[in-house]
Amino acid sequence: MLKGKTVILGVSGGIAAYKAAALASALKQGGAEVYVLMTEHAKEFIGPATFEGLTGHRVISDTFRSEEFLIPHIRLAAMADLFLVAPATANIIAKLSAGIADDMLTSTFIAATCPKLVVPAMNVNMYENPATQDNLDRLRQRGIVVLEPAVGHLAEGSVARGKMPEPSVLYRMAEYMIGCNKDLAGKKILITAGPTREPLDPVRYLTNRSTGKMGYALAKAAAMRGAETVLVSGPVHDAGDGVDNALLTGGGGNASDSVLLPAGVKRVPVQTAAEMAEAVKKESRDADCVIMAAAVADFRPLRQEPEKIKKAKLKQETDPETGVRGYSLSLERTEDILAWLGAHRQPGQKLAGFSMETENLLENSRRKLVEKQVDLIAANSLKKAGAGFGTDTNIVTLIRQEGERELPLLSKEETAQEILNELFAETE
Ligand code: CTP
Repeated sequence: MLKGKTVILGVSGGIAAYKAAALASALKQGGAEVYVLMTEHAKEFIGPATFEGLTGHRVISDTFRSEEFLIPHIRLAAMADLFLVAPATANIIAKLSAGIADDMLTSTFIAATCPKLVVPAMNVNMYENPATQDNLDRLRQRGIVVLEPAVGHLAEGSVARGKMPEPSVLYRMAEYMIGCNKDLAGKKILITAGPTREPLDPVRYLTNRSTGKMGYALAKAAAMRGAETVLVSGPVHDAGDGVDNALLTGGGGNASDSVLLPAGVKRVPVQTAAEMAEAVKKESRDADCVIMAAAVADFRPLRQEPEKIKKAKLKQETDPETGVRGYSLSLERTEDILAWLGAHRQPGQKLAGFSMETENLLENSRRKLVEKQVDLIAANSLKKAGAGFGTDTNIVTLIRQEGERELPLLSKEETAQEILNELFAETE
């Protein structure tokens, strides 16, 4: 996602400097050219050789000595698509805020006109000091993105705010800032994801195998393309790395059924189909587009018992066809949220849904397009290898009134981009 982009990573002298190595590596693996600028103090915490090995470029600290560039601060500043300072100490923040340019990092920062991201990491008292807060406010006023540090174990042994967010979080932030053209800026896109849980009693519930991956990929694509993105999410396995940030939560982890909340996405967590319906009705009022990727439970238990159902108290019945004795569960339909959206469409609003079938995929999906009065149904067969629940790939046919387009086996992120392209084709 960062292919062809040049990222400058400024590293200042804090204990979190070691994490900047993992960040440099992630940026490089994401396709970016990465140039690391270190302050002299940063070298007390980590050696330049680590960054040089990871990025393939010499670390520059001295404005007057570079093997790669003549007038390195001006040259690098002109090349940069993103300038990231991580970790940013109280001292470097003060310098950047005051416009001091007394080393390679600060000189390049002031010369660069690209988007900038500053990631403070320090002792909580240093962070909360009014001087630091004033300096950060000044940076924000100039359009520089400042990340709130996470709460966690700090070097001095206490648990407090001041920890640098995990490299995976910073990587996603970089992707969000420069990974895509902002062709959907000014639009609000509402996406639903994950399963719903329909309780039987306080202990048990009915649900399905959705992991939320497709919906989260759609939210990521929409946010990266500049849309105001709201994600109404059923219960998913969040790999979260405990980042308490208005813009960023989640991250890290590698469990195959887990998802990461993308940067720039507002998440509205829900449990049941009824809660999802309520959240969607509220958020869709001013949405330019709604994409229902959630696997909403079609049925819920007719009765939700306030106390745990005891098996000894359940009545057995005899199945009239088979004669087998067993237990039965009474269900009722949940509201079809997508059909409701189709019937209450706001002027100009685009609506899309998914259809997952094991047989008669196209026929059933075409019927849903008409019945639910939507613009697009993304149809995927559960029987195709590489498609369906929990996978990172999908094989989807995009069905519209005007025609159909079968996509090849793509990652869910690529599939998400194609769905947005299809929906917003005329505005591109
Ligand atoms: N959907 C919804 N509300 C529901 C159920 C589904 O909004 N209560 C949405 C899903 O998010 C998805 C689309 O409708 O976008 C799927 O349609 P649906 O008819 O529920 O699909 P299936 O469950 O596959 O249909 P069927 O029961 O006919 O197999």
